[in-house]
Amino acid sequence: MLEDTSFAIHPGKKATIAQTPYHDIGNVKQVTETKEGYLIECEHGFVTIQLYRDDILRITMNPANTPSCDSTPAVYAQKQQVNCSINEEEEDITITSAALKAVIQKRPFRLTILDSDGQEIVSEQDKGMGYHETGDVICYKEMHQHDRFYGFGEKSGFLDKHGESYTMWNTDVYAPHNPETDPLYQSIPYFMTLRNGKAHGIFFDNSYKSTFDMKSESDHYSFKAEGGELDYYVFVGPTPKKVLEQYTHITGRMTIPPKWAIGYHQSRYSYESEQEVREIAKTFVDKNIPLEVIYLDIHYMDEYRVFTFNKDQFPNPKQMISDLKDIGIRIVPIVDPGVKKDPEYETYQEGIREDHFCKYIEGDVYTGDVWPGESAFPDFTDEPTRTWWANKHKYYADLGIEGIWNDMNEPAVFNETKTMDTTVMHKNDGNPATHRELHNLYGLQMGKATFEGMKQHLNGKRSFLLTRAGFAGVQRYASVWTGDNRSFWEHLQMSLPMCMNLGVSGVPFTGPDVGGFAHDSNGELLTRWTQVGAFTPYFRNHSAIGTLYQEPWQFGEEYEAIIKKYIQLRYQWLPQLYMLFQNAHETGSPVMRPLFLEYPGDTKTYNLNDQFMIGDNVVIAPIMQPEVTDRAVYLPEGDWVDYFTGEQYKGSTYHLIHAELDTLPIFVKQGTFIAHSPSRQSTMVEQGELQVHVYAGQEGIYESYVYEDDGETYQYEQSNYLKLPIQVECSPSRIDVSIGELEGSFKPAYSSISFKLHGLEEQQQVYVNGERKDLHHASMELGLF
Ligand code: GLC
Repeated sequence: MLEDTSFAIHPGKKATIAQTPYHDIGNVKQVTETKEGYLIECEHGFVTIQLYRDDILRITMNPANTPSCDSTPAVYAQKQQVNCSINEEEEDITITSAALKAVIQKRPFRLTILDSDGQEIVSEQDKGMGYHETGDVICYKEMHQHDRFYGFGEKSGFLDKHGESYTMWNTDVYAPHNPETDPLYQSIPYFMTLRNGKAHGIFFDNSYKSTFDMKSESDHYSFKAEGGELDYYVFVGPTPKKVLEQYTHITGRMTIPPKWAIGYHQSRYSYESEQEVREIAKTFVDKNIPLEVIYLDIHYMDEYRVFTFNKDQFPNPKQMISDLKDIGIRIVPIVDPGVKKDPEYETYQEGIREDHFCKYIEGDVYTGDVWPGESAFPDFTDEPTRTWWANKHKYYADLGIEGIWNDMNEPAVFNETKTMDTTVMHKNDGNPATHRELHNLYGLQMGKATFEGMKQHLNGKRSFLLTRAGFAGVQRYASVWTGDNRSFWEHLQMSLPMCMNLGVSGVPFTGPDVGGFAHDSNGELLTRWTQVGAFTPYFRNHSAIGTLYQEPWQFGEEYEAIIKKYIQLRYQWLPQLYMLFQNAHETGSPVMRPLFLEYPGDTKTYNLNDQFMIGDNVVIAPIMQPEVTDRAVYLPEGDWVDYFTGEQYKGSTYHLIHAELDTLPIFVKQGTFIAHSPSRQSTMVEQGELQVHVYAGQEGIYESYVYEDDGETYQYEQSNYLKLPIQVECSPSRIDVSIGELEGSFKPAYSSISFKLHGLEEQQQVYVNGERKDLHHASMELGLF
């Protein structure tokens, strides 16, 4: 292990950067209009240009042949019919739609895309599309000095990725998670550029190992892959939220999660027996700490065989699951892809008999070591295997399980390369290909099989899936946690930009292991981390074998009381969070947002790593260092109010905020509203009255809505939901609250909504739907039905 010592930087080892020459695709020879778009033949390659939607351009380059334009399974949307025109001149070709103009210079081929205002979005000059003899395909674009880059899925480091380079290759990294640790578990070959306050995005639809380089040259960035076609989509924006709408139009959006999935989850590697699980559950209930889920990590299985329980430690899982459900707690078991090689184990037998495992081209089943020892790996790239795997989840559904945790699905293998041999073949729905090409899709396809299997077996109920690995589009099936972090303050800090960039990458349901997975947590860290967790979309406390237990009560009463307060706060905020999840489902906007998403014109927000927004009107500014009780908080444009104290703050500036250990700094924008309900032990306890808190302001109009549905079925797809638009208009003399028309047929348990006004000035009068109300000292009930 000399590489782990200073020997790694021995002067004699100076890295030689392998430079194989770049071949440009060269001059345009011919342009042909095809059914799908335009085919441009160049000296050294072929390019297809398609308007996928009037604001989404797809470019596909193949150095040798007419592009096949096959997509990875990340792509969800069909190409639309778009009205556009083409104009060919001596020097260039121009393709125009309502939202963009693509100008192709002919000698050599260079692409410039302009938005509808004529502003350049992407451009190429001395370098454009090309390839290397190794089979790499590459695209260079001009980079401006002040360009900001966001997205790239699950990456450590700061929010803005200018000056960084990232590789997409799903990898199990137990340690370390440093700012330079790359790649990690997810590959989302997509990013957004913010330039002069306007945003555009690029999605590189290629599953091979790919690299995005915003570091090596000061005036260009590039993206390249080790094989396949250079197939990418350009999203014209112009706002960051619009880019997300465009990107998630292509790769899909999340379904609304079951409400229980957004409550508090408790995990440990592992709660090793039924008795331990029951004790944990009972302690939460006895202490009145809300709890929704207990996870079963790998010890629940019979020697790590998936679709089994260890009969000694878990003698009656069905009874345990049912008893826990009676007290409002669900069980989510871990399911890894590795199937133990054991001729007496049913799942292995089936996999062999029915030919579901990945094999070498010569016909031998590939096996690698994971938790169960030597294991075979289902070929999730193929429909019959996905169906087999989906059906196997009947086992869990029949036990009363409604959520699954997929782990090790990079796939992780305990060997030097950390994964399966890249020469292993996948059947790939009739298009056999090597693991080298499809590695990054393995987790996504496992997620698809699992999600669809659970959906099928839950008879109309929504299921929940948590996954470690994934690819673009993973949001359609799963929520994502950020893997094996550590109980370090630095990892708490790093989790914010990581989750914000996942959100910018179309994945709204994310969170880290609260308290830290590896290493020992402590009371202060767990307290501060739980405060943050109460506002991250996914909220699970998880810790590793051999570390201190870190359930809310493990570090003494002082910490326990604060941790409980914030878990309860999560439950008070559930109506607001649930509305934001519904909004993510509808628009692709994340629940947890970097501030630039709402304030793209404000340069102060461009690399703000230690604050985030919940929706468009709440700023969370946690304390993320030990023994610190004061911090600088940046509040963007507008007037803001401290959620706990009611103190008002001016926006567009920094404030020094004091926050003792029991305080998470939360700021709500004045002139807006948020929805709450009383805290409860779990979502299985009926939700109490819905409270709309309106924060009076001095000027401006704010529009949002309250959203409800049954929280557990797909009936919302048949209009069985409740959407109540609310507008708040503020002026120095009056606050006008206008309740719009109720949408949907869902009837909640409550028949009225209570309104509470905060921060009303003496001279401000309140009108609700035009009628004057005295709301200075009281709240108002609004009858709905
Ligand atoms: C991996 C997972 C971790 C889990 C452990 C045991 O390290 O990332 O969350 O607890 O495996 O299953």
